[in-house]
Amino acid sequence: MYLILLGAPGAGKGTQAQFIKAQYQIPQISTGDIFRAAIKDESPLGREVKTLVDSGQLVPDNLVIQLVLDRIKQPDCKNGFLLDGFPRTLKQAEALHDATPIDYVIDIDVPHDEIIKRLTGRRIHPGSGRIYHTEYQPPQVEGIDDVTGEPLIQRLDDTEETVCKRLQIYEAQTAPLKSFYQHHLNTLQKHNPVYVRIDGTKPKDEIKNNISSILDHKEAQNE
Ligand code: AP5
Repeated sequence: MYLILLGAPGAGKGTQAQFIKAQYQIPQISTGDIFRAAIKDESPLGREVKTLVDSGQLVPDNLVIQLVLDRIKQPDCKNGFLLDGFPRTLKQAEALHDATPIDYVIDIDVPHDEIIKRLTGRRIHPGSGRIYHTEYQPPQVEGIDDVTGEPLIQRLDDTEETVCKRLQIYEAQTAPLKSFYQHHLNTLQKHNPVYVRIDGTKPKDEIKNNISSILDHKEAQNE
């Protein structure tokens, strides 16, 4: 299963990716996670992208495209993958389309005012990527990961000012992908993905069930 999770910053892509990768046994490829790991390691890639990522700007297309196209050639992607945070521009979507067929595009839709609440309250366990929210999904002990007892962190790009900037960039550069996947691709002669919009304001288990029922139903039709 070759799948893209589309949606604004904070729509819940990472939250749903945790269940999809476990249920369907496919690797999650999160470009944001790759960049944050590189920044933490102070690798050449990390040094190159740090200022952009911390301030909510996009990393240049050529760099991201090469990184993802190399990653999806790895053996663990042979039977599928889940892209979380890629593509984010038309150029990225076209490069991906030229490189590999995609089965599903799941677009998680959440209004901007809710996104600001979600991102400013988000807390993360850096070791595992476990995601919490101070109000919607609090840890058992404030500021502490439930599993390891280690401290949670807040991402540098989750301040209200940077979240607003990320949303502007999303509207200008990423939102046009909805129409790319709904309409433009239908005119092409290649294998087209199924585009599905999901209401991301529902509780996360309800969203999870909605995604499962779509994927299970379509997969059963394909058998
Ligand atoms: P990236 O890491 O991809 O960030 P993002 O797309 O902005 O998405 P987030 O990780 O912030 O949100 P999410 O949708 O995963 O939400 P989550 O599940 O955590 O990218 C970071 C940066 O890297 C970019 O700004 C850019 O600089 C660079 N970059 C990455 N990819 C790039 C690319 N392709 N091109 C160029 N640059 C790139 O949920 C958010 C919160 O809400 C959590 O607290 C969660 O608990 C809560 N929540 C989730 N679901 C629900 C629910 N249903 N109800 C209530 N609360 C919920």
